[in-house]
Amino acid sequence: MKISIMGSGYVGLVTGACLATSDQHVTCLDIDEKKIENLKVGKIPIYEPGLEELIKEKLENNSLSFSSNINQAIGNADAIFIAVGTPTNIENDGANLSQVFSCADEIAKNIKNNTVVIVKSTVPVGTCDKIEEIINLENPSIDFDVISNPEFLREGSAIFDFENPDRVIVGTENKNSISTLNSIYKKQIDNGFPIIFTTRRSSELIKYASNSMLAMRIIFINEIADLCEKVGADVEDIALGIGLDKRIGPDFLNAGPGFGGSCFPKDARALVESGKNYNAPQNLLKAVIDGNEKRKENLSKKIITIAKDKKNIGVLGVTYKANTDDIREAPSLSIIPDLIDKGFNISIYDPQASKVGVKEFEKANWETDIFSVAKNSDCLVILTEWIEFKNMDLKKISDIMNKPIIIDFRNLFSLKDMEKHKIEYHSIGREAINFNKEIK
Ligand code: UDX
Repeated sequence: MKISIMGSGYVGLVTGACLATSDQHVTCLDIDEKKIENLKVGKIPIYEPGLEELIKEKLENNSLSFSSNINQAIGNADAIFIAVGTPTNIENDGANLSQVFSCADEIAKNIKNNTVVIVKSTVPVGTCDKIEEIINLENPSIDFDVISNPEFLREGSAIFDFENPDRVIVGTENKNSISTLNSIYKKQIDNGFPIIFTTRRSSELIKYASNSMLAMRIIFINEIADLCEKVGADVEDIALGIGLDKRIGPDFLNAGPGFGGSCFPKDARALVESGKNYNAPQNLLKAVIDGNEKRKENLSKKIITIAKDKKNIGVLGVTYKANTDDIREAPSLSIIPDLIDKGFNISIYDPQASKVGVKEFEKANWETDIFSVAKNSDCLVILTEWIEFKNMDLKKISDIMNKPIIIDFRNLFSLKDMEKHKIEYHSIGREAINFNKEIK
């Protein structure tokens, strides 16, 4: 089968590299010619563990190629994936579908008979219908099917997620498309992962409902953490205690600085917007979005209260989570500028984000390791759960810093470790370890 993927961003590249096998040749496309030229020689524009190696391997065995000749690649394909971005609109909170519709236009002009168009981009209910209309209008005699097949890839473990999906969701009722999709996902199906066929509209909505449900859990546990701090309970124990209830489950109960990234915030906003459009208000989700925004403000206030007149703050991690170089909608984007505005001097270290981060946080001082940050800081703030931070040498930190203070928004350390190393420690939803009793 010949597969073309429109959009060589994060989702398109992971999908392309994972689908490229001896039986399926994949061509990844993009309108950015420079990006395509780099990809042809195995230079990838994002940090995703394992992706560069996988792409190089597939390029070498000729099962994957890159092209900016979009028309030709569409005309040659048996299956075309749309994997372009759907960012939030400027004028409202809905998803901006301009990239998706421009793909539909290109497809309409070049598609051959019996091609299946697979929408991987996260799109509001009814978008596949509109893509179908666009193609039909331009090319009424052609036989094709538009189906929905949302991605559920987590940055940082996207290849694993693609190969080991909790489920593959496919929205189509067309028999030929069902057979094509069974063939595209043969490896996953043979390995026992479920493939669920449903209607296009249900499939489109499953993606939004899934991300929104996860976002809700995060805000729920964050609010419980706030209460824990007030009443002297421990949020880690609460998460364990409720997570063992099989109906609840243990995942997505890590309290932290709030959710970020390219999906949760924009998808939650888009679902609320859809609710408004269809007069089916998503009130719970609206509260989740507001709670997430408020959290970042509250956490910078917390830092300011703890730091008081100590003006040098070291920030460890600016990405929205570990194992990525992505800072889109990361809590750091509001917390760091807020601290800078309040007159704090900020030094930063992040294992992957310096390329984008230096530009974004230009008033901060960038260091290349944890200890260089610690040396110049009165107080360390951990925003991202990089394993390198969790494994840091606490004795060395304690020796380097004058009166060490760690504010850990990812609960990376045990309270006992902090007591042992005489580090003042403030985490989320747990008792503070405080050797200087006047700061409480
Ligand atoms: C998410 C979805 O998980 C994925 O299925 C979808 O297709 C794309 O969006 P991703 O953005 O990579 O993936 O991040 P994820 O690992 O889900 O985390 C999202 C945010 O929630 C991060 O900011 C993370 O730090 C936060 N989070 C996650 C918590 O604060 N606590 C948790 O327990 C889990």
